[in-house]
Amino acid sequence: MNRAGEVFDAARADFLRWSNRLWRPLGEVLVSVARPSTGDRVLDACCGAGASALPAAHAVGPTGAVDAVDLAAALVAEGAREATEAGLSHLRFHVADVRSWPSRTAAEPYDVVQCGYGVFFLPDLDADAKALCERLRPGGRFAVSTWLSGGMERIVPVGRAAAAPERPDLAGEGPRGPSARLDTEARLHSWLDSLGLVDIQIRPVEFRIPLHPDDAWSFYLGAAMRAFVEGLPQDALDRTRARFTDGLRRAGIDMLDASSLIGVGHMPA
Ligand SMILES: C[S@@+](CC[C@H](N)C(=O)[O-])C[C@H]1O[C@@H](n2cnc3c(N)ncnc32)[C@H](O)[C@@H]1O
Repeated sequence: MNRAGEVFDAARADFLRWSNRLWRPLGEVLVSVARPSTGDRVLDACCGAGASALPAAHAVGPTGAVDAVDLAAALVAEGAREATEAGLSHLRFHVADVRSWPSRTAAEPYDVVQCGYGVFFLPDLDADAKALCERLRPGGRFAVSTWLSGGMERIVPVGRAAAAPERPDLAGEGPRGPSARLDTEARLHSWLDSLGLVDIQIRPVEFRIPLHPDDAWSFYLGAAMRAFVEGLPQDALDRTRARFTDGLRRAGIDMLDASSLIGVGHMPA
């Protein structure tokens, strides 16, 4: 299985602790910018537990359809459970690598492809995102959310440094991944342009919440930073946690700054 799927599967319990505080409100924001309308067909790529797929399903209604696709079976199961409880039978969750999601060849393309904080996990950011856009009808919308420069990027290096003494292999990794390519309005605009999209709009969203040190560790284990410590024994986890707490204190980080950019572009008509 793709490594991102393994990490987010293992992260299930902590990821879900952040659903109501973080993922769900930001998923609502993505949908408010992507604006799927009644009867639309939507692909939610890298859907997690459905933070943006669930509001999209409410927006398109029963005459529409939402395919929500993620590698992490544990998160997909949670989203499917919520969809069933809410009676959203037109929202279907699928455990799959979105790069090989079979609707590429389907006769009916999507009106909207949306992806919340997922594109930077795609192994080939440019080619894989372009392939997602190709699942749109002419004039259809591609909407992505990414982390804004100066927010999440402050926490991740503290998390990496905390794990590094246990994981010498981390030392060779660069300070930031592909999310750095999409973290300013200009960069995100030019990336969407490079995918062949038109009528591009970028919406910055401020999102900051207080971060208690205990919650900070849950955030570490519930999202991408978990990859730094996955498989470590408990004593190594305890040491990493102590270094992480100390590192946040030294850096003066007592807020989770999840400020974001939402970018939308249209396939040429
Ligand atoms: C930060 S989470 C965001 C989840 C959700 N969109 C949200 O906003 O709550 C990123 C998700 O991308 C998924 N993912 C990464 N690569 C993927 C791929 N190639 N295909 C499908 N899902 C993928 C991970 O399993 C994880 O659930």
